Amino acid sequence: MNIKSAEFVISNTDYKSCPQHDKPEYAFIGRSNVGKSSLINMLTNRKGLAMTSSTPGKTLLINHFIINDEWYLVDLPGYGYARRGKDEREKLRIIIEDYVLERTEMTALFVLIDSRHQPQQIDIEFMEWLGENNIPFSIVFTKADKLKTGKLLMNIDHYKQKMLESWEELPPIFITSAEDQRGREEVLAYIEEVNKQLLITNY
Ligand code: GTP
Ligand code: MG
Repeated sequence: MNIKSAEFVISNTDYKSCPQHDKPEYAFIGRSNVGKSSLINMLTNRKGLAMTSSTPGKTLLINHFIINDEWYLVDLPGYGYARRGKDEREKLRIIIEDYVLERTEMTALFVLIDSRHQPQQIDIEFMEWLGENNIPFSIVFTKADKLKTGKLLMNIDHYKQKMLESWEELPPIFITSAEDQRGREEVLAYIEEVNKQLLITNY
């Protein structure tokens, strides 16, 4: 898919204040610092579109971006940043959970997982919570450039095995790097396909 335009629209603390629209909306969620904002910049090919930081806890709001005037990308705050105070963490948890459960405009959700690490309890529990709430999702492994190919494939295979302990089937899986643009075409092709399906079912 060709990205002709990508613009920031608005930031909100609450899903209720987010723009109402009838276009597909794709949201990115995952642990703080996993690379959500970087992935949005990589997909759109716009370096400073979403704000990134090497310090976790950069994105604290629900950020909407409009792409090609046709669909939205949503950058969400990360979950689980331990150094943030308990109250702040709880506030972010509510922002994220309300968005995921109540945002009827949300077409698809991408859960980002750092490809360098062994399966983390917090991510596994988050995906189980999605399952309990019947929210379909895809997995996007990030930071693939940081590992040698053998180790990367081993980690991903291990992750799949771990998922299959509690899931009957695996969700769509993408392997990405904001650094070398790996996975960009695959994620955009997936979005394009979902957009097409929606157009067909809406007529
Ligand atoms: P919060 O907004 O704090 O939840 O974080 P985030 O998930 O939006 O992460 P962000 O995109 O800000 O990236 C965090 C750090 O990881 C930054 O220093 C990025 O440069 C780095 N990073 C993100 N993606 C990649 C990647 O694919 N490869 C490499 N090498 N670094 C990455
Ligand atoms: Mg961010």
